[in-house]
Amino acid sequence: MTIYLNGQFMPIAEAKISVLDRGFIFGDGVYEVIPVYTRHAFRLEEHLRRLQDSLEGIKLANPHTKAEWTSLIHELIRLNTDDDQYLYLHITRGVSRRDHAFPKPPVPPTVFMMSNPLRVPPVELLKSGIACITATDNRWLRCDIKAIALLPNVLLRQMAVDAGCAETILIRSDARGEFMTEGAASNIFAVKNGILLAPPKDNLMLPGITYDVVLEIAAANGIPYQVRRIEAAEVFEASELLLTSSTKEVLPITLLDGKPVGDGKPGVMFARLHGLYQDFKRCVMRVNQD
Ligand code: PDD
Repeated sequence: MTIYLNGQFMPIAEAKISVLDRGFIFGDGVYEVIPVYTRHAFRLEEHLRRLQDSLEGIKLANPHTKAEWTSLIHELIRLNTDDDQYLYLHITRGVSRRDHAFPKPPVPPTVFMMSNPLRVPPVELLKSGIACITATDNRWLRCDIKAIALLPNVLLRQMAVDAGCAETILIRSDARGEFMTEGAASNIFAVKNGILLAPPKDNLMLPGITYDVVLEIAAANGIPYQVRRIEAAEVFEASELLLTSSTKEVLPITLLDGKPVGDGKPGVMFARLHGLYQDFKRCVMRVNQD
């Protein structure tokens, strides 16, 4: 596997970073995950825009222009063997003596990128759906930043794995009651009365690139949808629940906290959106190839 680290492409075994890297010491950095289909980075503009937003969120200057990122990414894709890959981009505030405050003067950021083979969910999983649990969303109030500090997400995902499930759906509460934010590493949609419900993009969830694609597809195909707060009760009563992420695409959730979602089978909204998502992918890739 060929990776990119601070200006150089190299085999992963040769990549070294300092133990004083602020990513290692404080989790002080941000990341992106970009799917690549037939060697074309999917929604690259949008991923680079979100990376810029995350960097601004942690007050770290973007080390590269859009053109530089694009050419580095193309080179990384070329140097790796699989046609379908997922790219991991990781930028930290660099190496300095341990001090919570930012290094002064600033030090060069650490820029790391790797590629892994992308294996989209197998057909059997699309037919059975996945099981999820719910848990209290105990993360911070800037979940819109794609921060590398993922300990809460790691613990929340592990809760699902320990329960024999695939994902944990997160519930917050405020003065108005309990509501759903997202998954530990995914966005979640609900279906109620045939309407696709999506939580609003605010500081409590990551603005998913796949989430945007799903809403664009819904709008373009006359699928009724609403972007609004989803009460916890609506999650438990939903006729369908869907999970989205760059590596999982669109998945049906058929079991929640041990109880069937709707009739316990992937529903019509899933079938429609998943089909349209695959068409959309093929279409975008064809345009890119022309
Ligand atoms: N995670 N919410 C969270 C907390 C996530 O970590 C992710 C993705 C998403 C979905 O975003 P997108 O559609 O842009 O992938 C939502 C990636 C895949 C990861 O950490 O591996």
